[in-house]
Amino acid sequence: MTLKRLSRCVSALMLLGGAVFLAQLTRAQIGVPGLPVWFPPVWTQSRNAPAPSSTQPGQTPASIPQYAESSDATGRVATYQPNGATTTAGNAFFTPLGTNGRTCFTCHQPQSGWALSASAAQAIFNQTNGTDPLFAPVDGANCPDTGAAAQTLAQKSAASSQLLTKGNIRIFLPVPSGAEFQVRILADPYGCESSSKYGLPTGIISMYRRVMNSTNLTRNAQAGPPLSPEGAIMWDGREPSLQSQFTDATLGHAQASTAPTAAQVNQGVTFETGLFTSQSFDNNAGSLSGSGGLGGPKTLATVGVSNVPDPVVPLAFHQFDAWTLPTNNAAQASINRGQKIFTTRTFTMKGVAGFNDVAGNPFPLATCSTCHNNLDVGSDAVSGGRHLGIGDNSAADKSGNQMTATALPPSKDQPLFAFDCPVGSIPFYSNPVTINGTTYDEYQTTDPGMGLISGKCADLGKFKVPRLNGLAARAPYFHGGNAATLNQLVDFYNTRFSIGLSAQDKQDLVNFLNSL
Ligand code: HEC
Ligand code: HEC
Repeated sequence: MTLKRLSRCVSALMLLGGAVFLAQLTRAQIGVPGLPVWFPPVWTQSRNAPAPSSTQPGQTPASIPQYAESSDATGRVATYQPNGATTTAGNAFFTPLGTNGRTCFTCHQPQSGWALSASAAQAIFNQTNGTDPLFAPVDGANCPDTGAAAQTLAQKSAASSQLLTKGNIRIFLPVPSGAEFQVRILADPYGCESSSKYGLPTGIISMYRRVMNSTNLTRNAQAGPPLSPEGAIMWDGREPSLQSQFTDATLGHAQASTAPTAAQVNQGVTFETGLFTSQSFDNNAGSLSGSGGLGGPKTLATVGVSNVPDPVVPLAFHQFDAWTLPTNNAAQASINRGQKIFTTRTFTMKGVAGFNDVAGNPFPLATCSTCHNNLDVGSDAVSGGRHLGIGDNSAADKSGNQMTATALPPSKDQPLFAFDCPVGSIPFYSNPVTINGTTYDEYQTTDPGMGLISGKCADLGKFKVPRLNGLAARAPYFHGGNAATLNQLVDFYNTRFSIGLSAQDKQDLVNFLNSL
């Protein structure tokens, strides 16, 4: 049996178990078999959160064509469905399956590369005076009670500031029992962390995270352990399969009181796994699949055409191999140079938990594609997360490994947590703090990432290596919208790894990233 078929069987079994049991559950009961352990308290809180003022689903096109483009910051982004157009009426991805009027399409839209850019969230707010179910208090507001209480436009806008300024959704997760760390709240700008209804007193903390794209999902394979044709799902890898993800999104984001049926789950997953999205046109370079270029979603959908796998290290991106002077124009040549920098410019990687602990510290011959190595999409074929040091206090690190990681410190508009860990338990990190006579290594962050799922100090600050397609359509970047632009993102890497990029190198790299 192929990997893919095996995983489908396993997921189908899990779902059957989950769905039958869920239908009988009352609100007070938790402990749903077949769903991840972190999920029951999240579902309980979702169902208790206030409803939005309107449960009228937002505008949905009648059909998603086989091929369609929309304009974005630097050109056009396109989505291609090899199996043909999809009628949205009656399709589970586009149907409100819960109680608040939301569908998957509320947050995953083609003009944002099937994610949701901050500007798209603002446009929806302006069109609907903030009444679209996107802004449902459960997680479209910074905290449910302030979201529900907001009356005026100004109050609504303030209550959903994370969504409107960064495209961030509130992600709330329990601190796992038996965790190696203790959590303390250092800053609570929205009062949600200390809330007796939604906060740490209930065992739950809130983070604010970017919507991930729900496209190119079949190009995400990951070697083990565990072997996974789907790769890590969610920023913190917390979902075991796209099927469980669909169920949890329906119960959580859409505040459903019963799980979707297996048929609905399969229909939604079939739709999203049939999508291929990438930038198709660049305002300066022209068609990204013209003049020998292999960009655009059609080549992406055809495994084996644009792929020239390197036998040793996959070079991830080959789309713009042919674009050189004097045959091609200056804008195309810049994209080609950016691709070369991404795949071959080496730097020394130091202090990255999830990489240097395995590959050696320091590791001298790293490139961007050392981590972003999956062909054409740039996720990581090696499982596990990587700790880059975004939105945390790596600057306070006394181990000497992370000291350049001050480029994207914790953002003041987000809560800040202290994770107090046994001394020496966080790889490449040291920040001794004595509390009540006991010394801990204290890690401060706006988002603990995978550490909150595993309960392990070694996983704090680790995030999955995301796919890089359609970037021009979905600013801002990184898990919490920490980099407003790709220039800022490239500056972060240049500082973090002392790469020594020139101004021209940075521009080439940005032009390349905008073409993916
Ligand atoms: C309220 C907005 C919202 C709604 C509604 C929503 N999502 Fe998402 N989606 C997100 C956010 C935010 C993330 C990232 C969260 C995280 O990693 O913790 C995400 C992540 C995902 C991912 C993970 C992609 C990856 O590469 O790991 C998939 C797949 C996905 N959503 C599909 C769906 C489906 C299917 C539905 C409908 C059942 C849905 N989403 C409904 C906001 C939403
Ligand atoms: C150590 C592994 C590693 C290396 C090396 C690396 N990345 Fe990343 N990359 C990641 C991880 C992990 C994330 C997600 C981080 C987060 O959001 O906290 C990420 C995120 C990104 C994103 C944002 C995607 C999004 O959806 O917001 C871009 C763009 C990106 N990387 C480009 C690059 C470039 C360019 C380089 C080389 C200069 C590079 N990366 C080197 C691991 C790596």
